[in-house]
Amino acid sequence: MPEFILVNPQVAPFVAHLQLNRPKELNALNLELMLEIKEALIQLDADPKVRAIVISGNERAFAAGADIKQMAGRTAMDMLKIDQFSTWDSIRKTKKPMIAAVSGFALGGGCELAMICDIIIASETAQFGQPEINIGIMPGAGGTQRLTRIVGKNKAMELVLTGTFISAQQAHYYGLANKVVPIEFYLSEAIKMATLIAEKSPLAVQLAKESVLRAYEMPLQEALYFERKNFYMLFASEDQKEGMAAFVEKRKPEFTGK
Ligand code: CAA
Repeated sequence: MPEFILVNPQVAPFVAHLQLNRPKELNALNLELMLEIKEALIQLDADPKVRAIVISGNERAFAAGADIKQMAGRTAMDMLKIDQFSTWDSIRKTKKPMIAAVSGFALGGGCELAMICDIIIASETAQFGQPEINIGIMPGAGGTQRLTRIVGKNKAMELVLTGTFISAQQAHYYGLANKVVPIEFYLSEAIKMATLIAEKSPLAVQLAKESVLRAYEMPLQEALYFERKNFYMLFASEDQKEGMAAFVEKRKPEFTGK
């Protein structure tokens, strides 16, 4: 049984909910918690009854970053041997769409975890930041890279170099948060978005997610070829036949993931 997370594999039809549950420490991401997230995501990714995953903390904090108390005494060689970022690499490889439901603090590794997700729904109270500079380090789980790609160089530079936080509204303005909603709705709104995605063909969703992510990782021409291959591949699926037949017959498609 995991100690630091709660997993509900069916919070809504085909939607799972993974909640970080270390509230006293503002969901600080110790190594154990990250390993639990990794293992849970591997299981949810393999579960055919799950088509989208919502990741949340609680109202006060999504996550206030890597666990500073756990890291404080470590040497560079300790960090190298512990290799915590291989856990993050595994999380990044999750094939199903992940929606971060962010309320309160999403700082350091917390902001980085939200950015590994594919969509961010923020409560009006959310605060995002990369404050590692305040404790003599810098972001290590993708903060300098993903944040820069999302908000642009100058804003990323400001956040990473000053360690200041931005509000949910600012995060929305810079394209970091997809939507900002009153605090009482941040989780239900994320589940609603996940449900909308879970109604689609899971195969099409998986390949579409993979293709969008390639926009970050490949030169345009190669990424366009990648997209094209995935597009053609979907014509081998029953879901493509069903989706198009349903359109022609003016009915709702029933996708099976085949
Ligand atoms: N690690 C360990 N413990 C943390 C923590 C963290 N990142 N963030 C908060 N906590 C703990 C606090 O130590 C405190 O515990 P105690 O009650 O035992 O003292 C508890 O959570 C509540 O926190 P505060 O009393 O500080 O609450 P606050 O409302 O006054 O302040 C905060 C909230 C602004 C988020 C403040 O806690 C804070 O600045 N936290 C650290 C944020 C940070 O620097 N994150 C980056 C970490 S490094 C990183 O993430 C590296 C990476 O790229 C992977």
